[in-house]
Amino acid sequence: MSKEIKTIGVLTSGGDAPGMNAAIRAVVRSGLSQGLRVIGIERGYAGLLDEEFHEMKSRDVSDIIQRGGTILYTARCMEFMTEEGQAEGAEICRRNGIDGIVVIGGDGSYRGAGKLAKHGINTIGVPGTIDLDISSTEYTIGFDTAVNTAMEAIDKIRDTSSSHERCSVIEVMGRSAGYIAICCGIATGSDDILLPENYDGDEQAIINHVLQNRKVGKKHHLIINAEGIGHSATLAKHIEEATGVESRATILGYLQRGGSPTCRDRFLASILGASAVDLLIAGKSNRVVGISHGQVVDYDLDEALKMQKSMPEDWTRISQLLLRR
Ligand code: ADP
Ligand code: F6P
Repeated sequence: MSKEIKTIGVLTSGGDAPGMNAAIRAVVRSGLSQGLRVIGIERGYAGLLDEEFHEMKSRDVSDIIQRGGTILYTARCMEFMTEEGQAEGAEICRRNGIDGIVVIGGDGSYRGAGKLAKHGINTIGVPGTIDLDISSTEYTIGFDTAVNTAMEAIDKIRDTSSSHERCSVIEVMGRSAGYIAICCGIATGSDDILLPENYDGDEQAIINHVLQNRKVGKKHHLIINAEGIGHSATLAKHIEEATGVESRATILGYLQRGGSPTCRDRFLASILGASAVDLLIAGKSNRVVGISHGQVVDYDLDEALKMQKSMPEDWTRISQLLLRR
């Protein structure tokens, strides 16, 4: 029989993402509304091991739904990768009366949640990463804000690229996935979109494309490069050497992780955070929530980690069809 849940914890882990605060707020408010005690755990698993706990009341999450980052801070914690660290984390939960934890983070954070669950602490994972690289969900908290931020930045680079008739290589985040790159590459009408999923390293094809664009009178050439490929400065240098077209590289970097979350990020973070609490109240553990066909779904965490996600092949083809010839 599942034990009755009286006190839950919430933590954010891995890279921060806009909308994590909306998810924290949802966990706290939904937990309190249903009679639970809610403990905020600071700095992810590191804070769990250091017992950086504070009880959260409704007002503690006032005025955060619109803020980027995470009020609970986030961290990466090597100690929690060890069996001893995980056992210690579970023991600390028991000592502090924490029956269940909502973990907001990416795949790595899910793995940590799975370890806590195996040590007897009920855990539910909520997808929080700008990278959209979690297989068990169509949506991850922060992606929408990140691509909108990147899109605005690319539009600005396009202006100066056009004025100077340059080629711009713009590197976007995404770890080893190209979701941010494909999404804002298509949304900005970029000429080339390089994705870790299918880039074959053929620089000559890119160089030919730059030359062909010059021939048809295009004033700029925008290349979106995913960080999983990297080497943007080298690519820009090679293009300039081979074509004579002035080329510059811009790495958008951490600006993609900040800023006020979009409506979509706030809305879905709220729904997912509250759904995670519902699962804990129902006595569930070792599960993750996500979105599939627009609906909230939940899966066994181990099954979720085995799932594969692939980018529709058509997206790259379509991005090319939409270019001016
Ligand atoms: P993300 O959650 O964004 O994928 P990381 O992969 O950096 O980010 O993972 C965040 C944290 O989750 C790690 O620093 C570590 O504390 C914990 N973690 C990751 N993988 C494991 C694992 N296999 N076992 C236990 N904890 C893990
Ligand atoms: O997972 C989010 C992310 O921003 C990735 O896109 C990037 O590869 C990574 O985190 C950077 O991590 P860090 O904050 O450790 O530099």
